Amino acid sequence: MSLNEIRSKNLFEKAQKMIPGGVNSPVRAFRSVGGTPLFMKQGKGSRITDVDDNTFIDYCCSWGPLISGHAHPAIIEKIVETAANGTSFGTPNPHEVEIASFITEKLPHVEMIRFVNSGTEAVMSAIRVARGFTGRDKIIKFDGCYHGAVDSLLVNAGSGLVTFGISSTPGVPQKLAEETLVLPLDREDLVEELLAKYPDSVAAIILEPIPANNGLLLQRKEFLQKLRELATKYGVVLIFDEVISGFRVALGGATEVYGVQPDMVTFGKIIGGGFPVGAYGGKKEIMNCIAPVGKIYQAGTLSGNPVAMAAGFAQLQLLSQPGFYDNLEKSGKQFSDGLSEIISRRSLPVTAYRIGSIIWTYFGKAEIMRAAHHIDGATMDHYKKFFRYCLEHGIYIAPSGYEVGFLSSAHSPEDIAETLQVIDEAMAVTF
Ligand SMILES: Cc1ncc(COP(=O)(O)O)c(C=O)c1O
Repeated sequence: MSLNEIRSKNLFEKAQKMIPGGVNSPVRAFRSVGGTPLFMKQGKGSRITDVDDNTFIDYCCSWGPLISGHAHPAIIEKIVETAANGTSFGTPNPHEVEIASFITEKLPHVEMIRFVNSGTEAVMSAIRVARGFTGRDKIIKFDGCYHGAVDSLLVNAGSGLVTFGISSTPGVPQKLAEETLVLPLDREDLVEELLAKYPDSVAAIILEPIPANNGLLLQRKEFLQKLRELATKYGVVLIFDEVISGFRVALGGATEVYGVQPDMVTFGKIIGGGFPVGAYGGKKEIMNCIAPVGKIYQAGTLSGNPVAMAAGFAQLQLLSQPGFYDNLEKSGKQFSDGLSEIISRRSLPVTAYRIGSIIWTYFGKAEIMRAAHHIDGATMDHYKKFFRYCLEHGIYIAPSGYEVGFLSSAHSPEDIAETLQVIDEAMAVTF
């Protein structure tokens, strides 16, 4: 079967003349899987339809935000109602207070919160606040965690286990990158060593408590607990970047699942109900250092936008309905049980990882999978074939083997069964 891609191809050709690579975010360009990115025109529930009228069961879900699927009626209704009254005022509005109350009541570790316009902006702001609060400059981050397009965090590890960052992109001053110390995940001993070496210089330890940007690297609880202990000991701000895991694995995100409390937390994706929203929050003591109460400057013309806040609030209300996460867990289990059955029946060198509704299929076998260097890059070749077969048979998965997949409450048992059928056939073609 091959896809009709005429309109997508035309649009892509046109877009490339004006928009770098034809896309507004690089991974959308299909570079690691080849072919033309599909231009979507519609989403409803678990399905998306492109401009050539191909329909897919969607496991990308806009890279995580759409936990209730596309165009959920309750969210759309709230958006329309709010937008009809004006889309932006540049003043405070009641929707900000509504969503802030909801979050601070339900998530005890978020004593105060500030809304911004993306996950990147949330992380960038949290880093500034941690630096301003502690009066220190250095940041510890972990290889394999992604935190958005933030200068201080677009760094790679150099050679050796404990290293100063090397900017991973032109445009980030090396001097800034050097303030970021990069460590492998799963090695609390190295964090301890590093803090002992720089006891008064580290402002923040930042990590995705559920790293889901470089495969799915599920951490040991003891690792997170030790980071908590060390951050307290050395007066370092512990930041959990929950842009993906926040409201995804539980209402209280990874913080609730692992029972380890950060000092600050960043959100994005789900918190905006499909709109561009990010947020950062945490302890009052820290958050009260932000202007206009404190001296650390952070601002945004469209921050707390009424339509985005209303969409986010409508989304969060759906999540707090009884059984929401239990049902997602059931769907996740149906998916991973089915995949595991395919893997063992076909004796495939494939491993299925999952937490709740986040899924990652690794085209290799690994004894442990907790750090970026546990992933064998050569396995990604299989992904291209797998991806193409799925795409041609109505299943849309992320266009990169390092990306995870997301289930939503709109994915029915029938959708998942249909997907598993295609996956079974795709595996036969892949290996
Ligand atoms: C953990 C994490 N932090 C931050 C970001 C950046 O968010 P955004 O793309 O909304 O700027 C992402 C994006 O994928 C992310 O996964």
